Amino acid sequence: MKNITIAIDGFSSTGKSTVAKQIAKHLGYVYVDSGAMYRAVTFYAMQHGFINNNHFDVEGLVASLKAITISFKFNKDVGFAEVYLNGTNIENDIRTLEVSSFVSKVAEISEVRQKLVEQQQQLGKNGGVVMDGRDIGTVVFPDAELKLFMTASAETRAERRYAELIERGETVTYEAVLKNVQERDYTDSNREDSPLTKAKDAIQIDNSNMSLQEQFNNILQLAKRTLENS
Ligand code: DC
Repeated sequence: MKNITIAIDGFSSTGKSTVAKQIAKHLGYVYVDSGAMYRAVTFYAMQHGFINNNHFDVEGLVASLKAITISFKFNKDVGFAEVYLNGTNIENDIRTLEVSSFVSKVAEISEVRQKLVEQQQQLGKNGGVVMDGRDIGTVVFPDAELKLFMTASAETRAERRYAELIERGETVTYEAVLKNVQERDYTDSNREDSPLTKAKDAIQIDNSNMSLQEQFNNILQLAKRTLENS
């Protein structure tokens, strides 16, 4: 059977990665978290002083892009590929509210996007991949056989994200998380280069009132139908 490409785009904290991981595991496909790559560049920028308080040295970061190597390594204990920055596992470091609050700014930079899109296309060149992000169905894999666009209300997404951060031991307020979700929605949808938008041929899924199981079943059915017709 042919290996298809499944592109899952949508707003932040819509549960894209949860369902993408489940579907990839079920089909024996590779899962690629493209947001983790933008987060990795953001973490590098913070570590190297290109982001300092509210000052952002964009030129400095762009000049250093060659020094950034991002890779993924499957961790069988967690069941998915974790992200590495220059050989160091940074899977946990990139999930903080601090990284989240700068990442949309980093994702606006065309040079960053160009580097990461190239790598994403390489990672998915043989198909058999589920990739989630903001521009996967529009820019990275415009010919993907199955494209999904996930949405949920900002409040629902902030509640989910808040619960995750508290679980991880971060000290945050629900209001701060909601503000971050709304700001990222705005920046991601309004940037000049590859703004978040639904591809014409994407299927929109609002999961505000859907259980994880319902969501998984729906998407698996779509994937199976796509596979049969490919
Ligand atoms: O999916 P995420 O929340 O981990 O993504 C982090 C940020 O990276 C998000 O605010 C926008 C950016 N991003 C992007 O611009 N393009 C992608 N394909 C994936 C993420």
